[in-house]
Amino acid sequence: MKALVAPSYGPLDQLVVTDAPAPSPGPGELLVRVEAAGLNPLDAALVTGAMHAMMPVEHPFVVGMDAAGVVEAVGEGATGYEIGDAVVAYTHFHPGTIAEYTKVGVGPHVAKRPAGLDAVRGAALPSVSLTSECILEAARAEAGQTILIIGATGGVGSFTVQLAAQAGLWVLATAAPADADYVRGLGARDVIDYTSTDPVKEAQRLAGGRLDVVLDLVNRGPALLGTADAMKDGGRLLSTLMGPESFERGITVVYVRMSAREGQLQSLSERVTAGTLSVEVAATYPLDDAPKALAEFASGRYSRGKVVVTV
Ligand SMILES: NC(=O)c1ccc[n+]([C@@H]2O[C@H](COP(=O)([O-])OP(=O)(O)OC[C@H]3O[C@@H](n4cnc5c(N)ncnc54)[C@H](OP(=O)(O)O)[C@@H]3O)[C@@H](O)[C@H]2O)c1
Repeated sequence: MKALVAPSYGPLDQLVVTDAPAPSPGPGELLVRVEAAGLNPLDAALVTGAMHAMMPVEHPFVVGMDAAGVVEAVGEGATGYEIGDAVVAYTHFHPGTIAEYTKVGVGPHVAKRPAGLDAVRGAALPSVSLTSECILEAARAEAGQTILIIGATGGVGSFTVQLAAQAGLWVLATAAPADADYVRGLGARDVIDYTSTDPVKEAQRLAGGRLDVVLDLVNRGPALLGTADAMKDGGRLLSTLMGPESFERGITVVYVRMSAREGQLQSLSERVTAGTLSVEVAATYPLDDAPKALAEFASGRYSRGKVVVTV
């Protein structure tokens, strides 16, 4: 089958679209004919080796973790799915979706794709929307409380703004000026231009010192201390990246790692078709241009939503 293959750890320009062995579904697994595959920052990190210590991969490997497609074969004991079912899936930290075929274990990381959800938006949905649900749980915030989202226009941010606003939170979101109306349309009450202001200080000012939660999707490692510095005493700091474990002034930090419960991805897919959750796709690229797609995505060319490879 044709696939986007990483031959070894190294720069993104070593990626090739080439022949790779098609996966065969083991017990409890589905073979999916991929129609579209969504890109994530983790895809690039696995190729370069930046995640080597936490998530080593064997080479060569097929890149990608989000997909939408059609069930082509059903492994032994994989119940609930039939050949021909349209699905969305996340391969749960085992790359292999930017290809003509991928395999996924039946469970919370795969769901039947509702008729109104096209493959491109379906492929953009799984990992970021599930991560956003984990973030909302970790926030433990109540309606009326405030949340600042740093990195609000990207994949995770664009879903988290929507979920937080729908939960009744006052959302303050960072965005470059060109994306201010976009993020307001997702539900942000205040938009902070991160290119000209310190987002946390500005959010504190706008919220009258009542900033309850900060979600930082951008800063990692010691840089998170800068975010914490500007937070109020006793605030809650959430991050999807790594950083220090202890903070001063009673600030609680939670490092969120994506996980999924049974039915969650199905429900998120249905919210898209019901019109209560929107999926922004900034660009699509055909499979032959997948190396370019990942390079341009990783370079920060697109600020809004997701980039998807069509197969
Ligand atoms: N722990 C987990 O399980 C998990 C799960 C999913 C994602 N993640 C991680 O979470 C992070 C976000 O993921 P994503 O999919 O949302 O990435 P993404 O789609 O690339 O979005 C990143 C966003 O950050 C914005 N941004 C960049 N620099 C900024 C700055 N200095 N201040 C404010 N905003 C800035 C970008 O907007 P501009 O273009 O305007 O700069 C873009 O909107 C990534 O590092 C990813 O690896 C972790």
